[in-house]
Amino acid sequence: MRISKIFVGFVSIVLMSSSCTSFSKDKKVLNVNKVLESSVVKIKKSANDLNDYTHFPRRIRKDSTNWNCVTVKDWCSGFWPGVLWYAYEFSGDKDIKKQAELFTASVKEIAYTPAHDHDIGFQVYCSYGNGYRLTGNPEYKKIMLAAADTLATLYNPIVGSIHSWPSKKQYPHNTIIDNMINLELLFWASKNGGGERLKNIAISHAEVTMKHIVRPDYSAFHLGSFDDKTGAFIEGKTHQGYADNSMWARGQTWGIYGFSMAYRESGKKEFLETSMKMADKFLERLPEDGIPYWDFDAPLTAETPKDASAAAIAACGMLELYQLIDDEVVKNKYKEAAISLLKILSSPNYLSGDKNQAILLHSTGHKPKNKEIDIPIIYADYYFLEALLKLKKIESSELSSK
Ligand code: GLY
Repeated sequence: MRISKIFVGFVSIVLMSSSCTSFSKDKKVLNVNKVLESSVVKIKKSANDLNDYTHFPRRIRKDSTNWNCVTVKDWCSGFWPGVLWYAYEFSGDKDIKKQAELFTASVKEIAYTPAHDHDIGFQVYCSYGNGYRLTGNPEYKKIMLAAADTLATLYNPIVGSIHSWPSKKQYPHNTIIDNMINLELLFWASKNGGGERLKNIAISHAEVTMKHIVRPDYSAFHLGSFDDKTGAFIEGKTHQGYADNSMWARGQTWGIYGFSMAYRESGKKEFLETSMKMADKFLERLPEDGIPYWDFDAPLTAETPKDASAAAIAACGMLELYQLIDDEVVKNKYKEAAISLLKILSSPNYLSGDKNQAILLHSTGHKPKNKEIDIPIIYADYYFLEALLKLKKIESSELSSK
């Protein structure tokens, strides 16, 4: 027992010092363990302050320091349970695990309610998906399989994609770039007893997205509108971005991460290439300070807000790419880029410290509707933790295989 503790201690010190050297091109270092440790302290404190397990942190408004919470029906309800699972994964803290279980249980109804939109994937995979990965609880598996079947009811075989937002009646059938991430629930279910059909739906959806929503220059529309009777592509729109022909930052990163995951799950090289080219476009257009504005084509003024959530999602996608690409030079380019994003997000400009209950500042939810501008938003924290944990695992496994 004692020896193994000493060994674990030794490995973490080595991990930390190895990280310090490989992480930095500039003088500053990213100490992954330290950022995760301080994040867990904040998450545990917030969890203790939140005693209604049916309401989930979504954003911190400008005039507040505390999470503003939403019901399970909100598209963001799965992220807080996911944050708790990541905090438990890092810390092994049993109190945090209990909180994760309680919030996760409140998401269950989403799996069994007729699908309103594609967000079932965010709601259930971030909560139950992480819970199942970490506990193997068979009840969680059952709920995830039900959720995948519910999500699949939105599939239109004529178009070949999921109807992402059925409530938007101005489009006969729409598919949005965000929906790429939610294919992971279908891929997972297919491997876990849900049948080949779910994987085929996910692949077809990714192919349709690649063909019509990703533009020839590898930026992306937010939304593709299709004729639901013929499957014909009608037009591309950018609902949450600046303009229909602009590059909405978070949309670009849903694509980077979504297509890398779709390649991991399907082995289809064209998805890998799409993810890489979308990542290259994102990196080539990043502003000087390394974190995107909310839309790459929005007019720049002193007030133009950043979107830290896009940076965190991009880091997750680029760490996926690092693990999927064989060529050492190419893969390392994405790893270094992910580290650079995480390093900037871990700086005092972006970490919220003791300013409020969140981990990250400066995300932008829906600029055209003037909603959630330059504030902490829960999915930024979720993907930030995910990226840090991914990086920690990569570094640990490379260290142990040396
Ligand atoms: N609709 C999901 C997002 O705002 O990225």
